[in-house]
Amino acid sequence: WALMHEDVTAIRALKRARNAIILAHNYQTPEIYHAVADIVGDSLALAREATTTSAAVIVVAGVHFMAETAKLLNPGKTVLTPDSRAGCSLADSITPADIRALRAAHPGIPIIAYVNTSAAVKAEVDYCCTSANARRIVEHAAHAAGTTTVIMLPDRFLAANTARETEITIIPWTGACEVHERFTEADIAQVRAQYPGVTILAHPECPEPVVAASDFSGSTAALAAYVTEHRPARAALITECSMADNIAAANPATEFVKPCNLCPHMKRITLANIRHALETMTETIDLDPGILARARIPVERMLAIP
Ligand code: 13P
Ligand code: SF4
Repeated sequence: WALMHEDVTAIRALKRARNAIILAHNYQTPEIYHAVADIVGDSLALAREATTTSAAVIVVAGVHFMAETAKLLNPGKTVLTPDSRAGCSLADSITPADIRALRAAHPGIPIIAYVNTSAAVKAEVDYCCTSANARRIVEHAAHAAGTTTVIMLPDRFLAANTARETEITIIPWTGACEVHERFTEADIAQVRAQYPGVTILAHPECPEPVVAASDFSGSTAALAAYVTEHRPARAALITECSMADNIAAANPATEFVKPCNLCPHMKRITLANIRHALETMTETIDLDPGILARARIPVERMLAIP
């Protein structure tokens, strides 16, 4: 605790000295989320907030694609990642060459990339989306292109879960989140049997039968908002474990029950390496100017859709 307190004090002083802010994803540990973050949220909120800050330095407490997104929206600012090895199984599942091959195979069909992709992949696509706006972007992209089909990648489960909500045909890719793909329908049945009356909230990166067996599905911010609004006596957040830890204090009327899974990539970010990033001003996110300019377009298109 003493070490943690020392890191928190140092980080707060460094933020003032460097004119820096910390953007933290909802899966960061509670000490990051509550003690040092300036903005917390889902991927969409972090991208939006990255466009409004006047700080000179942005530290992204999240995985690499989130830091790249902050950089491409703020090319003139210093964007720091506390650990550049914090990857994502979804971002790793597809390359720019894969996108070019998909485009050649499906001419005229709009391509939507989940925000969980590299900047190099975003540079090849038409729209970006997050779990908070997937259906809206799918429908907008199809309408704008005059088609009834879109390609949505790389998460096959997000594609299947979005397809359940729309008339548009979605051509998926094969990627999956290594954290969410492990949840099963049997897990849901077991929680319901063990905790009568439990409300089950699942992230749409979970397999389709898991989402179908749940009471509500949405982005991490939508799951948190559901708990705050409905105040269930018991809730199971079928997602990364820090989610429930982070919102428990603000929702004392709700008992949070398991299962949850840890994301090893999100967990690479610690108070110690956030402090180190601000002390040394490393590691910076540096993108090829050509990739940055092209990757920005699908993200800005997404942000322009209300
Ligand atoms: P959201 O916070 O946008 O719902 O995304 C979840 C996730 O897995 C990010 O990596
Ligand atoms: Fe990627 Fe899944 Fe971790 Fe999110 S939880 S960063 S999608 S591996």
